[in-house]
Order: sequence, then C-alpha cells, then structure tokens
Amino acid sequence: MKIIITGGKGQVGSECDQILRREHEVAALDLKELDVTDLSALEKVVKRLTPDIIINCAAYTNVDGCESQKKPAWDLNVNAPKHLARCVEKYGGLLIHISTDYVFDGKKPPPLFYVEDDETHPLSYYGKTKLEGEKVIREMTKKHIIVRTSWIYSIKRDNFLKTMLKLVLKNPQKEYRVVDDQFGSPTWAYRLGLQIASLIETGGRGTYHATSEGYCTWYELASFFLAKMNLPHALIPCSTASYPTPAVRPKNSILENQRLKKAKINLMRHWQDDVNQFVSNFREQLINETKGGIE
Ligand SMILES: NC(=O)c1ccc[n+]([C@@H]2O[C@H](COP(=O)([O-])OP(=O)(O)OC[C@H]3O[C@@H](n4cnc5c(N)ncnc54)[C@H](OP(=O)(O)O)[C@@H]3O)[C@@H](O)[C@H]2O)c1
Repeated sequence: MKIIITGGKGQVGSECDQILRREHEVAALDLKELDVTDLSALEKVVKRLTPDIIINCAAYTNVDGCESQKKPAWDLNVNAPKHLARCVEKYGGLLIHISTDYVFDGKKPPPLFYVEDDETHPLSYYGKTKLEGEKVIREMTKKHIIVRTSWIYSIKRDNFLKTMLKLVLKNPQKEYRVVDDQFGSPTWAYRLGLQIASLIETGGRGTYHATSEGYCTWYELASFFLAKMNLPHALIPCSTASYPTPAVRPKNSILENQRLKKAKINLMRHWQDDVNQFVSNFREQLINETKGGIE
C-alpha cells in the first residue's frame, strides 16, 4: 500500500515510518516537505502520491505552549485534521489520526480508567484542540481510525525520559522534584507503531485507545527508568499543586485499550517491560547523545 506519514520525523511518525516501510511504500514527510495546515500544498501532495492511507502524526504537541500559542495550536490540531479528512473524502483512502489521553478530565480516581466511549472533557487548550480534531474527522469522513495514546517516549526527539536523563547526568546530587500525583501509562512510540501496523492489517475503523498496560506517576516513571539506566539520582516526589504549569493536566489519564482487546489485536505491553527493552536497546546511545548535549 502507499502510505503518507505527516509529521514523519516526530516520535510516533518516525517509528511508524521504520515499521511500515518493511511492507509498504511509505513517504514520511516532515514540516519542510509538507505543512499540513496548508490545504493546497496538501492536495498537491495527495494528488501526486495517491496514498491508500494517510497517517497524521503532525501536531502541536507542546502542551504548555498551546496555552499561549492558541492560533497555531488550533491550525495544526484542528484545521489540519479537517484538511486531511477532506482529502480522504475527495481523493479516497483512509485517515489514521493520533490523539491523546488529555481529552479526558481525569476526575476518576485511579486505578479506574477511561475507555473509548467515556465522556470527554479536556482541561487544557491542547486537550481541547485535540478533541476538536477528533470531532472534525468523525464529522467529515467514515474512513478513519483515531488512536488515542499517552505519555509517549522514543529514541527520537525530546521527551520526558530524555529530559530526566539530561538533568540527572548534569547534576546527580540535585534534588529534582517530579510530580507524583498524576497517573498515566507511559507508551513507547515503537510499540504504538506496531499497533498501528496491526490496525492497518486487520482493517480497524473508528476510535481506539492504544497505551501501555499498567500505570504509574511521572515520579515512578523517572525513578524506574533511571534505575534501569543504572544511574544514581536524588529525585523527590512532589504534588501537582507544588509544581504549577501553564496547562492543567488530568490527575488520572489511564486509558484502557478496550476496543483493541475486544478485537483481540492488543499488542501493547506493560509499561515496565517496554521501558526495560527501551533501555536495553538504547542505553549507550542515550548516554552518549545526552552527554554530547551537555558538554
Ligand atoms: N508526545 C506525547 O506524549 C503524546 C501523548 C499523547 C498523544 N500524542 C499525540 O501523538 C502524536 C504524535 O506526537 P509526537 O510525540 O510524535 O510528536 P512530535 O515528536 O512533536 O512530532 C510532531 C511532528 O509534527 C511536525 N510538525 C509540526 N508542525 C507541522 C506542520 N505544520 N505540518 C507538518 N508537520 C508538522 C513536527 O516537525 P518539527 O519538529 O519540524 O516542528 C514533528 O516532526 C500527536 O498527535 C500527539 O498529539 C503525543
């Protein structure tokens, strides 16, 4: 099949590219090759490449930045999915779009979780734009898969694990505070890429949750990761209240992959197993890259 990946050099985009190019003809396009907010540029690319599938991994992903950059966040997270849905209706194919756990308000107490049909109520502008992006796609085309995921990390690009690594390598004795009262499921972009490939193979349609099994807090994630990296640290757990950020985040954004499980195609693993594998695959590369960035 012919597949276009937008935001193709991002965390999820580059993993989808690596996985799908084994069996498909993939064009992984980044911002400089295709700006998805530009409808006429998008139409030109779609007419030229005639894709069977477009996977939209482009997004305004800076959650705090969205609070002050409302116009570009709306353009990228709402208008671009609208353009993509229009293209799929006009030229054919299937749109696979990535969304987020932040469409929920997190009022359920953990270990309760959110399933695909639960009521949405985003707390942040990022969550609001991502939810609107989902809605425009559902309104405009039946030919879609929306995949909600959470707390993504990858060997590519910046993410929470790399930030913690950088801080700790710079100053192992420093008592960095890490939030310990927000619960979610850290998800390896590589595993998500495999799950998206299986949704393509099995002809999935509609909205799916695809996050790792199990859940933790940011503090637990950072501690587990650094222990696996075999690095000493002095992290201190703290509350959300004592660590204010521009965007309000849900206290509990644990998602259950209910539709994947019902269809018997859930490939997602426990978050600790994936962090283990991530570290055993990339420990040296992570350390070298991070030390290079500090010096
Ligand atoms: N990261 C998370 O923790 C998380 C959690 C839940 C859901 N998600 C969702 O997962 C999806 C992928 O996230 P990610 O973590 O892979 O994001 P990412 O690493 O930030 O990648 C986003 C990509 O989009 C590109 N991009 C920016 N503006 C664009 C434009 N106008 N046209 C085309 N491409 C553009 C970026 O390019 P430049 O770098 O050149 O700007 C970047 O390559 C997003 O929909 C996000 O909302 C992410």
